[in-house]
Parts: sequence; C-alpha cells; structure tokens
Amino acid sequence: MKKVLSGIQPSGKLTIGNYIGAMKNFVKLQDEHECYFMVVDLHAVTVPQEPASLREQSEAVAALFIAAGIDPSRSNVYLQSHVPQHAELGWLMTTLTSMGELERMTQFKDKSSGKDTVGAGLFVYPALMAADILVYNADLVPVGEDQKQHLELTRDLAGRFNHRYGDFFTIPEPYIPKVGSRIMSLDDGTKKMSKSNPNAGSYIALLDPPDVIRKKISRATTDSGREVVYDPANKPEVSNLMGIYSECSGLSLAEITGRYEGQMYGGFKKDLAEVIVAALEPLQERYHEIRSSGAITDILASGAERARAVASVTLEGVKDRMGFLPPR
Ligand code: AQP
Repeated sequence: MKKVLSGIQPSGKLTIGNYIGAMKNFVKLQDEHECYFMVVDLHAVTVPQEPASLREQSEAVAALFIAAGIDPSRSNVYLQSHVPQHAELGWLMTTLTSMGELERMTQFKDKSSGKDTVGAGLFVYPALMAADILVYNADLVPVGEDQKQHLELTRDLAGRFNHRYGDFFTIPEPYIPKVGSRIMSLDDGTKKMSKSNPNAGSYIALLDPPDVIRKKISRATTDSGREVVYDPANKPEVSNLMGIYSECSGLSLAEITGRYEGQMYGGFKKDLAEVIVAALEPLQERYHEIRSSGAITDILASGAERARAVASVTLEGVKDRMGFLPPR
C-alpha cells in the first residue's frame, strides 16, 4: 500500500479540468492506497481571496471530493489550514530552495505576468507544496500536467534534505493521466482551462447547470476545418473537446472520430454537451445532498485529526535532524 497525496485550491469553481486531470484519479487510487486529499486553502491565498468566498469554496471543494466518489471513511479529506504542520514544514522547505529554482517555475511566470504587484507567497508556494507532499512521505501524487514541474522541485528538495541530513524523505512520483492531463480552455486551445479565468465561458464548472454547459460548448472555439480528428498540434481546440468527450463517455478517441466521420462540428458539439451533462448529473446530485446534510464539518474534522497525527511525527523528525531543540 502506497501513500497518496494531492490537493485542490478553493480559488474558484472547480472545473472539468480539475476533475479529469486530478479528481478522477483520486477516486481510483483510494481503492488500493492510503490517501490524503486536501483542500489547499493556504495555496489559494497566494492570490487575493474574498473571505466569504474562500469559506464557501473551501466547503464546496470538500463536498465535491465526496460527490466525485472519495470515501471519507477510507481517505483523509481535510483543509490544509487545519494541519499547521504544512505551514511549518513549508517554511523549512523555503530555506532549502534557491531563488533560481523558484524563478524557473512556469506557473509563477504565467500567474505573475502582466501584474503590477505579485505576492511573495505566489513565488514561494512551490516550497509549501513540497512540504504538503513530504510531510506524509507520500509515494504518489496524482496531478495534472501543469503540476509536473512543481513535483520535480519537490523531488529535488527531498533529495537535498536527505543528502544534507541523512535519508529521511520518500522521493515522490507524479501520477499523471495519459489523456486529459491538460484540459484546455474553451476559448483558447493553447491555454490551460483554469477555474480563476475571469471569462466563465472558458471553462465548464462541475456545478454548471445543463443549459449553461450546452451554451458554453456550443460557443467553444473550434477551427475552420470540419473533421473530428485528434491532432493536438494542428487542431488543438477540436482535440481538446475530443479529450473531454472521451473522458466523460468512456469512448476512445478513435471511436469518437468514427462516430462523426463525414459530419461537421455541430452534431459533435451537441452530443458532447449531452455527454458532459450526463457525466456531471450524478455528481451534482450527490453534491447538493452532501451540502444540505451538513456532514462536511465532521468529515473535515476527522480527516484533519488523522492527518495531524502523521504530519506531526514527520515534522518532529525533520526538526530534530536540522538541529532544533525540542520544547520541554
Ligand atoms: N486544465 C486542467 N487540465 C488537467 N488538470 C488540471 N488541473 C488544473 N487544471 C487542469 C489539476 O487540478 C489539480 C488542482 O489544481 P489547483 O487547484 O491546485 O490549481 P491549478 O493547477 O492552478 O488549477 P486551476 O484550475 O488553474 O486553478 P487556478 O485558476 O486557481 O490557478 C491539479 O492537480 C492540477 O494539475
């Protein structure tokens, strides 16, 4: 049994990109492994958040984890800020990280580009993410492609700590899906679909009602061609829509091409909208049940308690190796 850790930021409405790239794998992995699935609220505040919406989104993301099929009696579901060891190990990790390493992070470059001021938290957040993973000695980290570089930094930091202070941390492996690891924006096939994109038409939110999904898909950018074929280099938008179709229906990309041979994009898009609606319907139903049951508070409390028990042992070990005197 391996240890699995991943998290999602409550920085907006979760998208189908978050679901296909990450959450679907959370559900698969919980059958065989010891899992820690966090709502990473400390990461969300690396960009300004309105307090009321941070509260709401934190609970919403936790409820979506459960609605997507994460079983809280088997997996630990909790808020990152309820386990203070993350922040403390995060600080220690920044002391092992060089400015150059952080400057090379493409996500930082993307998120800071064109901004007048950028918070230092956004810059150092990969060190906190490393702490999130290492504090449980996680073996596997299910993430989308965009997080691969942060995972590589985590591996480097774990190796650096082990080299300097003696073997201690497990070197984690990324777990990235082959199809759907990078769902692209509906209005621009070269940009990742993101929950914080100010244009709501660029993403399908997991809680979008059916009519909104239909409208967004009908307006999704395609190209001037007419063939439904998977060719990300030359047809990024259509390939992206095919990836979503495949992940939501279980059909292979070749089966989808076969189904729409000789047809234009209209029928394909219409069906795609219905496929997404059908895939999200049960999740949305469960979500509303969970929210109205009020069960989330208890789920988060027991998940955090179990997580703290593991994380505090690791943190003590780290501090001891680094030379901190224990409190009396
Ligand atoms: N478009 C995507 N395709 C596949 N996977 C994706 N993920 C995010 N977007 C896509 C994966 O979802 C997990 C949670 O991501 P996150 O909330 O920690 O932050 P993010 O990667 O920055 O995701 P967003 O939606 O783009 O959030 P904002 O807009 O707040 O920055 C990760 O495993 C990620 O790979």
